[in-house]
Amino acid sequence: MIIKRAIFTACAMAALATAQAQTPKVYTIEADKVKAHIEPTMYGIFFEDINLAADGGVYAELVKNRSFEFNSHLAGWQERQKNGGKGSVEVVDRTAQRPENAHTIKVNIESNTGSFGLSNEGFRGMGIKKGETYSFTVTARKPAGSLIKLIAELHNASGNVIGTGTLTPTSANWKKYNVKFTATATEDKASLYVWLKGKGVVDLDMVSLFPQHTWKNRPAGLRADLVQKLADMKPGFLRFPGGCIVEGRDLVNRYQWKKSIGDIDKRENIINRWNTEFAHRLTPDYYQTFGLGFMEYFMTAEDIGASPLPILNCGMACQFNTGQLVPMDQLDPYLQDALDLIEFANGGPNTKWGKLRASLGHPKPFNLKMLGVGNEQWGEQYIERWKVFTKAIKDKYPSIKIISSLGPFAEGKEFELLDKTFRGLGADILDEHYYKAPKWFLDNAKRYDNYDRKGPKIFAGEYAAQSVATGSPENKNNWECALAEAAFMTGLERNADVVNMASYAPLFAHVDGWQWTPDLIWFDNLRSYGTPNYYVQQLYALNKGTDVVPLLNDGAMVSGEEGAYATASIDKNTKELIIKFVNTTDKAKPVTFSINSTSTYQKTGTVITLGNYKKDAVNSLDTPTAVSPVKSTIGLSGKSVTVTVEPATFKVIRLKMI
Ligand code: AHR
Repeated sequence: MIIKRAIFTACAMAALATAQAQTPKVYTIEADKVKAHIEPTMYGIFFEDINLAADGGVYAELVKNRSFEFNSHLAGWQERQKNGGKGSVEVVDRTAQRPENAHTIKVNIESNTGSFGLSNEGFRGMGIKKGETYSFTVTARKPAGSLIKLIAELHNASGNVIGTGTLTPTSANWKKYNVKFTATATEDKASLYVWLKGKGVVDLDMVSLFPQHTWKNRPAGLRADLVQKLADMKPGFLRFPGGCIVEGRDLVNRYQWKKSIGDIDKRENIINRWNTEFAHRLTPDYYQTFGLGFMEYFMTAEDIGASPLPILNCGMACQFNTGQLVPMDQLDPYLQDALDLIEFANGGPNTKWGKLRASLGHPKPFNLKMLGVGNEQWGEQYIERWKVFTKAIKDKYPSIKIISSLGPFAEGKEFELLDKTFRGLGADILDEHYYKAPKWFLDNAKRYDNYDRKGPKIFAGEYAAQSVATGSPENKNNWECALAEAAFMTGLERNADVVNMASYAPLFAHVDGWQWTPDLIWFDNLRSYGTPNYYVQQLYALNKGTDVVPLLNDGAMVSGEEGAYATASIDKNTKELIIKFVNTTDKAKPVTFSINSTSTYQKTGTVITLGNYKKDAVNSLDTPTAVSPVKSTIGLSGKSVTVTVEPATFKVIRLKMI
C-alpha cells in the first residue's frame, strides 16, 4: 500500500513538473459582466429519515422503542435478572384511551431480593462519552402499596457499569420522572439497564435517555456533532422530511406533519418505510418516533441559516410501491394540511396554527417561502392532484413558491410529460432528480445551457453519482464520484439564472444501519465524517458568490472541453472574484486566468484545493479527512493569475478586489 502511494506520488510529481514546463492555457474572465444572479438558496441540503438518519441518528434519543409502539412491542428490550431477582413484564394495550401511544408496560416485582429489570440495546448500541451528563426519563405510575425504585445503569460492551442514576415513582397517576448522571467511560456499543428494586407493580412508558449536550443544548434535542456538520456547509435551504418517506409505501404510513409536533408522547409512531424496502439491507427495527418532527426541522433550518423547504404528500403513496391514490373528491384533508402548514410556519399569534407555533416556543414566524407538492410523483394522476393543490395554495398564499416534481428520472417519457405540462401551466420551480454514473455527470455539465430562461426555475433536488449502479449496495462515496459532481456543478452555477437550488442526496447514513449508499455524511454512535462529496458540496456552498460572470476559452463558456470544467462568480458583499476549476483528466493543467475588469486586485489570493486523489479514495471514521480541502495562497501578476491544477482536482480561487 505504502509502495503504491509512493509510486503514485512520484508520478503525480513528475506530471506536475511536466505541466509546469508547459505553457499555461489562458482563460478570460469578464469580471464586470454579470451573467446571472446566484440565489442565496443555491446550495442546500436534503434530509430524509433513511439510513437511521433521524431515529438512531441526528435525533439524540438513545433508547430504541422507548414507548413500546413497535409492532413487536418489546423489540429492543430484554428482561434481565440478577441475584435471584424475580418479576414479569406485561404489555398493556390502552388504544381506547390513547390511540396515538397505545402501549405501555406493567412490571411486577415479585421479590425483595435480587434485581429484576429490562435492558435496551439502543440503535446498534448507544454512544456514551466519558464525563458527559445523561438524562434518564420515564413516565410511570404505581398503585398504592407498591414501592419500587428504578436504577438506570449504563453498561459498556463488556458489561461493566459506566454510569448510574436512581429515581422512585411516587404517584398513582401517570407522571414524568427524571434523573441525570455522568458517564465514567466512553463506549460506542453501550446498553441501558433499568433495574426495578422493591415490591409491587409499576407501569412504565416513554423510557428515554438523552445526552445533556445536544445541538444548542436543547433538552431531548439533536446530536450536536451531526448538526454542526450541516451548519458548516452554510446551506441555503433545508428540504425535509423526504423523499419517499413523505409518500409512504401506502397512505397510512405517509408523513403527516400535524402528528409530528407537540408533546413527544403524543406523536404517533409508525413504521419507517425503509424498514423493509431493500431485501439486501432489511432493517426490521426501523420506526419513526417523530422526535425529530416539523417544529425541530423548522428550528434547525433557522439555526443553520437555511430556508425551510417542507415537502408534503399530495394524495399519492410511493409509485415504486403501492401507488395508492386518494380519490380526487377526498383530497380535502391533504389540502388542508398544506394550507395549515403555511399558517403554522408564517401565521401570526392570532391565527389557529400560528398560535400553536407560538405555544411551542417560537412566536416569530419561520418565513416559509416554498413548499413541495409531492415527492417523486409522475403521470396524469399527479398532474390532476398538482392542479388542485396549486390552486388552493396560490389562492390563499400567492407568494408561496411551489416545488413540482419531475419524477424520479432525469429523462424519458414520464419526465417529458411533467416537464412539458408544468411549463405549460406556469409552474414556479421544477424538481429534477438524477442518480447516475459519474460519466453522466461529466457529460451533463451542459444540461441547463439551453433551458428556457423565461420558464420555471430548476431545483436539482436529489443527485449523487453512483460508483457501481443506481441503488447498488456497493456504491461508494469515492473521489471519482465527488469529482464528477464537482464538474457537473460548474454547469449548475453557470446557469444560476435557471438553476436556483441544488442538493445532494441522501444526507446521512449510520455505518451499521444504512439502506442506501452513497450518502453525504456517515456516522456511528459517537463519530461522523464528511465524504469527499460533502467537501465538494461545502466548497460550492461556501464559495458561491452573488453573481456569475463569464469564464471563457476563446470566447466560449467552459464546460468539459479537454476535461476542464469551470465557472466564475463575484461576491458583491465581500468584493471578491471566485474561480472554480475542475480538472477531470489524469494530467496536471497549467492555467492562467486573465481578468477583464475595472477593479484592481490584491497581490495575493487564496486557493483551496481538493484533489489529486486516486479514483477510489474515500474518507472513513478512522480517516475522516483523507480527502479534504487544503488552503494555500497565490500571487497575482496585475490582473492575471496562473496556477497548475493537479490531475483529478477541484480548485477554488478567491481574489480580493481593492
Ligand atoms: O434518497 C433516497 C430516495 O431516493 C428518496 O427518498 C427518493 O426521493 C429517491 O428515489
